[in-house]
Amino acid sequence: MWGGRFEGGPSAVMAEINASIPFDKRLWRQDIRGSIAHVAMLGRQGIIETGAAEAISAGLQQVEAEYTAGGVPVDLALEDIHMTVETRLKEIVGPDAGRLHTARSRNDQVATDFKLWTRDAIDGHLAAIRTLAGVLAARALEHHATVMPGFTHLQVAQPVTLGHHLLAYVEMLKRDFGRFRDARARLNQSPLGAAALAGTGFPTDRAFTAQALGFDRPTANSLDSVSDRDFAIEYLTSATQCALHLSRLAEEIILWASQPFGWVKLPDQWSTGSSIMPQKKNPDAAELVRGHAGRILGLMTSLMVTMKGLPLAYSKDMQDDKEPVFQAHDLFELSLAAMAGMMETIRFVPERMRAAAASGFSTATDLADWLVREGGVPFREAHHITGRAVKAAEEKGVMLDGLTLEELVAVDARIDARVFDVLSVEASVSSRTSLGGTAPARVQAAAEAAIREVPLW
Ligand code: ARG
Repeated sequence: MWGGRFEGGPSAVMAEINASIPFDKRLWRQDIRGSIAHVAMLGRQGIIETGAAEAISAGLQQVEAEYTAGGVPVDLALEDIHMTVETRLKEIVGPDAGRLHTARSRNDQVATDFKLWTRDAIDGHLAAIRTLAGVLAARALEHHATVMPGFTHLQVAQPVTLGHHLLAYVEMLKRDFGRFRDARARLNQSPLGAAALAGTGFPTDRAFTAQALGFDRPTANSLDSVSDRDFAIEYLTSATQCALHLSRLAEEIILWASQPFGWVKLPDQWSTGSSIMPQKKNPDAAELVRGHAGRILGLMTSLMVTMKGLPLAYSKDMQDDKEPVFQAHDLFELSLAAMAGMMETIRFVPERMRAAAASGFSTATDLADWLVREGGVPFREAHHITGRAVKAAEEKGVMLDGLTLEELVAVDARIDARVFDVLSVEASVSSRTSLGGTAPARVQAAAEAAIREVPLW
């Protein structure tokens, strides 16, 4: 393709380090689509003859049909997907195929292909995030009144409902969805026609190709067009942020499935056994979601480091942009699908959750709040009194509602029998009616709202 200036071919190692076809063949559909739009524009603008444009377009469609049927041939000598497609096109169309690359460079071509690919990837993730959020919202509605311990420091803090806990993840996913949607909107400008870096002297119509490829408009600056990989980085940061959320949920599933917790039973389809310990059922899918999040974060870092020192405009380092994105995509897509499948079928064990919620004096705050409300005690003092009640219960080996009225009155004379109404875990969650609180009525309404709204995200 550049033979004119060269006398010898590349060494074998040069060919190998230079080639991106083993991985950028994934861009073949986008590459052909971009070329079809470009050649239509060349014909319309009279930059090449209409007959040649039509022949090239038909040839590209034939290449597409061949690759659909038989896959993309990998020949390192052809370097990348752009040369692979063009070489086959030349076999089909003849020398006129060489007119396709008028007013274009592989620099704007690859930026265009990669943006189109990333846009499709984002669309896939948006749908998958919605699916997972829908599953979580449905499980939340089912468990809007199931009591479990809420933790801080992984110490039992206050009772919450399982539905409330699951809806916390729906909120995270909503933000993740928004990040991908924003990234998609910022990405959606066409670099095609920026050529190598400076633009071109041919009378191109960049608005035409932008529109043909579903972009909102052409990019404004030719240097930025070919050197910008923000869209790939934003894709990776969005995926990383969401993967972190999946990882936290995965961590909780792993914890909850362990015998000391026993809060969930993993469905067979989402666990594995042990080759030596016959009793084992391991939460491998959740562990891999947790593990994949680390790899996705690493891939994000990898592309950031690739880009951080590059002068404008294109440098070949940028060929290393694709593998991090492709790999992160595959890991992330699998993680979302595994999480949705797991959460849809996981069996919660409400009795165990409730028992855990009742442990650890989880309603101590309710006693303190009662003293404030009914006894007019300042909160700091109520906190102190409740601390003494907890100590008394601990010494007796019971929970707070296991103390007798006499024992409570001995702690503070302002306590009366009505206090028992607030000491159960059910009373505790039911009282948390503040906006965004864990009261079952609130959670039910929030879950119903989420079920309605997730499809509209
Ligand atoms: N395979 C190259 C890449 O992925 C295409 C662009 C090549 N451009 C160049 N000036 N060598 O970045």
